Amino acid sequence: MKLTVNSREYDVDAEPDTPLLYILRDNLELNGAKFGCGLGQCGACTVLVDGEAVFSCVTPLLLLEGRKVTTVEGLGTVENPGPLQRAFIDEQAAQCGYCIPGMMMRAQALLQKNAHASDAEIRAALQPNLCRCGTHMRILRAVHRAAELLKSARAETSTGSVR
Ligand code: FES
Ligand code: FES
Repeated sequence: MKLTVNSREYDVDAEPDTPLLYILRDNLELNGAKFGCGLGQCGACTVLVDGEAVFSCVTPLLLLEGRKVTTVEGLGTVENPGPLQRAFIDEQAAQCGYCIPGMMMRAQALLQKNAHASDAEIRAALQPNLCRCGTHMRILRAVHRAAELLKSARAETSTGSVR
């Protein structure tokens, strides 16, 4: 079937019940999303489907026809990181880093809808994702910083300013 990931269309040859996480990592070589529990309980595998955060380890391929998948690789590049990636780097918001792609994608789902999210809203949105290293405070700071970056980028766009 055809699968759209990060605005690119792929032909995927796999059983319909194959979890999206396996397709991303094994077929498409997009290794940002991580395998943690495989049970929808840790959030390491979080990606966006049509803008909503989902656990890709428990999302079968058959549900994805005609839908848009976004992974952490779709947020920016090493040379040109997106606001969330830049904010996580600036705040050094990682210890082992295993949870971070999932945290970023869950934060992305929130900030796309609400760039003015409060601290309580950010905490509530990230709640399904676990960090075993205890990096939570830095992660929160990074999401707040990303929200500020997004707001400035939108303000620049609306006023037509160019960097
Ligand atoms: S690996 Fe998917 S929720 Fe843990
Ligand atoms: S930084 Fe290690 S699990 Fe979160």
